[in-house]
Amino acid sequence: MTLLPQRYTVTAALPYANGPVHIGHLAGVYLPADIYARYLRAQGRDVKFICGSDEHGVPITIRAQKEGSTPQQVVDKYHALIRDSFRDFNVSFDVYSRTSSPTHAEVSSGFFRKLYDEGKFIEQTTQQLYDEQAAQFLADRYVVGTCPNCGNEHAYGDQCERCGTSLSPTELINPRSMLSGNAPVLRETRHWFLPLDQYEPWLREWIIEGHKADWKTNVYGQCKSWIDQGLQPRAVTRDLDWGVPVPVPGAEGKVLYVWFDAPIGYISATKEAFPDEWELYWKDAGTKLVHFIGKDNIVFHCIIFPAMLRAHGGYILPDNVPANEFLNLEGDKISTSRNWAVWLHEYLRDFPGQADVLRYVLCANAPETKDNDFTWKDFQARNNNELVATLGNFVNRAAVLTQKFFEGRVPERGELTEVDEEVFRQIAEFPGRVGELIENYRFRDALAEVLNLARAGNKYLADTQPWHLIKTDAARTGTVLHVALQLTAALVPLLAPFLPESAQKLAQMLNFEPGDWSSAARADQLPAGHQLQEPALLFAKIEDAVVHAQVQKLLDTKQANALEARHVTAAKENVSFEEFGRMDLRVGTIIAAEKVPKTKKLLKLLIDTGLDQRTIVSGIAESFIPEALLGQQCLVLLNLAPREIKGIQSQGMLLLAENADGSLALMQPGAPVRNGSGVV
Ligand code: MF3
Ligand code: ZN
Repeated sequence: MTLLPQRYTVTAALPYANGPVHIGHLAGVYLPADIYARYLRAQGRDVKFICGSDEHGVPITIRAQKEGSTPQQVVDKYHALIRDSFRDFNVSFDVYSRTSSPTHAEVSSGFFRKLYDEGKFIEQTTQQLYDEQAAQFLADRYVVGTCPNCGNEHAYGDQCERCGTSLSPTELINPRSMLSGNAPVLRETRHWFLPLDQYEPWLREWIIEGHKADWKTNVYGQCKSWIDQGLQPRAVTRDLDWGVPVPVPGAEGKVLYVWFDAPIGYISATKEAFPDEWELYWKDAGTKLVHFIGKDNIVFHCIIFPAMLRAHGGYILPDNVPANEFLNLEGDKISTSRNWAVWLHEYLRDFPGQADVLRYVLCANAPETKDNDFTWKDFQARNNNELVATLGNFVNRAAVLTQKFFEGRVPERGELTEVDEEVFRQIAEFPGRVGELIENYRFRDALAEVLNLARAGNKYLADTQPWHLIKTDAARTGTVLHVALQLTAALVPLLAPFLPESAQKLAQMLNFEPGDWSSAARADQLPAGHQLQEPALLFAKIEDAVVHAQVQKLLDTKQANALEARHVTAAKENVSFEEFGRMDLRVGTIIAAEKVPKTKKLLKLLIDTGLDQRTIVSGIAESFIPEALLGQQCLVLLNLAPREIKGIQSQGMLLLAENADGSLALMQPGAPVRNGSGVV
């Protein structure tokens, strides 16, 4: 028998305060962490769930420069935005702090100072790129140049985003400073390094021997490959004026490297919020520490931070680091700089009160073992088929029938038949099963199981048919609804970690105060005679038009991005005025549009040309969804010889502007004109 931990410290990666948070953040890190923390609390375990904004580092200073503001203004703005998004999605942190706080400066510089005093660092003078005009050393992202690996001309000093290679600034070919655009020079500078190589034997034993069985394969694999490649000393200071000042003599103009100070932020946030107890959560061997992160953070949380904690001494190490893979959006990598994202604050503006729907979809499709794709179509389908038609439908039928036949009171339970007993067996079994999945960080499977319980409820109602039964056997109908209602009550604690708002709504409807996790196993949460509240719908169907608007918004983003990256092609040969004049160009209006089946690019359009209504097949399906075209005016070449395309007669051609990336925009008159107006 394994001993339960006495308490838990659950951390979620501190997001950079240089932009809002999006669905990738929620799906990869904050949602699984929140489900885990909520589940532990429901189990009555002692848990602190810790997070905050990561407010140092070069991305922040670059953002400030771009926005013409100061780093402090940037972090103030995004810290507030991020904090509110998490609050609105009910991410239940016990503390959400920030690394610009005074406590953090004190804790992180104290940490550095202790390692420094004990001789745990090595000092090295190296050559670094320096911008003479700006009189500044150029940390990582302040240098751009050509990637030596793939030739990308916009690689950063620390990484090439095209081929993914991690680089050091001096490896770039033809480097340029982001500050002045000039070629930087090499200049000597002195820094402190954590000699990771000295920790290699210990890391090998702790991870490769110790965690082979219990860490996720993606996490374990990355760690093993890092260690096998041989660990090098890592600089933990930078020449920069934004960050925690290096607290030793002779370090003017130097700050702690952001990846040194940020993870210490977990500790300072705990200390700030729980000044009397924080040490228990970081230093007591009975505490289980779990870091929730995305896969790009693995090396920092599994190798560097543990080596720091080990060097310091007195701290516990993570028991597990359940890192997720990435979530893509409609087939493309989510990107803050390209605005290719569903931002959490914008989602709630478009879907007010529907935080749980996104929580559901992101958990059901979480990138736990491989990268996954978020699509609006899947979002709609999961809402309509799973939340509305399965979960909502079951709960609603049980409540409405009770209202109708028994005035909203839980009926007496008579003798139980085999089907009833089967439902009770399931109720008894689910909390254990779902809990075990959660404890093994398998949140998708856990949520799927909860839905299975609702599915079992639907099947039970379909098998017993209380709506017919009432005509012949009121007592038996009462028993059936009694059983069904116990199942709805069992769903409340099971749903709560995943969909906290819906679980609460359901509890209100059932008019009861849900108990802890184990209460979900009880089949007597609602005694006979208990009065329910009026039934209300837990979820609403999402209509096509709503998701179409979201898809069109993304297509518009693509267009805007393409505009920025425009290329101009060479001019064509001259044509005579007569040749031009033979073309019959007119303004028309698109009155119907649909995809041509089994093609990727083609739409079949019906166009009112003022003279007639005609069909034109056009290769624009990757730039527009059909609904967005209805009622739009357009330019048409009427007398292009008709052609048959995929079995459809296409009479004429729609005129479009083509962006460099192949995305298309309609050619339209600047103001509405009569259909059939000629172009002169
Ligand atoms: N800000 C980092 C990122 O978004 C994560 C920092 S995690 C911490 O990738 F441990 F350093 F805090
Ligand atoms: Zn590259």
